[in-house]
Amino acid sequence: MLQLKAVVAGYGGGSVLRGVDLECAERTITCVVGPNGAGKSTVLRAISGLIAPTEGEIRLDGEPIGGRAPAEILRRGVAQVPQSHALFPAMSVQENVLMGGYLIRKDRKLLRERLDQVRERMPVVAQRAREHAGNLSGGQRRMVEIARCLMLDPRLILLDEPSLGLDPRGLAGVAEVIQRLSQAGTTVLLVEQNVRLGLGLATHGVVMEGGRVRLTGTAAAVRDNPEIASLYLGGGTRWTSESPPPSRTGDPGSPPTA
Ligand SMILES: Nc1ncnc2c1ncn2[C@@H]1O[C@H](COP(=O)(O)OP(=O)(O)OP(=O)(O)O)[C@@H](O)[C@H]1O
Ligand SMILES: [Mg+2]
Repeated sequence: MLQLKAVVAGYGGGSVLRGVDLECAERTITCVVGPNGAGKSTVLRAISGLIAPTEGEIRLDGEPIGGRAPAEILRRGVAQVPQSHALFPAMSVQENVLMGGYLIRKDRKLLRERLDQVRERMPVVAQRAREHAGNLSGGQRRMVEIARCLMLDPRLILLDEPSLGLDPRGLAGVAEVIQRLSQAGTTVLLVEQNVRLGLGLATHGVVMEGGRVRLTGTAAAVRDNPEIASLYLGGGTRWTSESPPPSRTGDPGSPPTA
């Protein structure tokens, strides 16, 4: 579904990505891990069109999308949930979610349908509709950020550090939402510092370092790679989260049958 080939990209003329190859098949969950500054967020920004690659190709269903405008990429079904907290705290939960429907704002009927779908898929949106987004817990805010991007019914969802700053309960909630998205047929590409959580959820893993992909494979293979295991399972590592995986229902370790 998504293919990056030898992508070079960066900021202000400097290259952060130095030839990135990456693929996501439909209905998979791919988790990108790696140290701070490896270029993980930059990969997501290049896919969603926030930065344009200077070399290489990004294809969606075989069509080149590298360098296209973010709104066009969004229209093609690729939505990004950014790393930073991105809700308007003084606006209600529902108002925040409706902002995600900006591109379809002229079609009131579709907007209404999508909102109903999102309320059903993400109960927090229905339960706290009129609450100021700023009054929600970290985990609930993350749900609303994801809910907002579901207004355009994306086929591919890009999540940058969805676990960041969440307590164990928030982590479990977000993990469950990601699994439900995947089960509903959405392809997921996420970046995670919480390697256990990310590779536990994912079907496929990608390890980045210094603007390049160092290792790819099934999530299990990446998790079990001795070097990777010693980097994030061994004590005192610099790029791992110490938090234990959240308790979850079901078996997130096994890839969905496509
Ligand atoms: N807006 C920007 N302008 C200039 N340089 C940037 C910008 N954003 C990121 N960089 C630089 O690009 C490099 C890669 O950053 P990126 O955010 O992609 O890393 P990351 O792997 O997501 O790291 P982290 O785990 O800290 O989120 C870093 O050296 C960073 O300083
Ligand atoms: Mg980042």
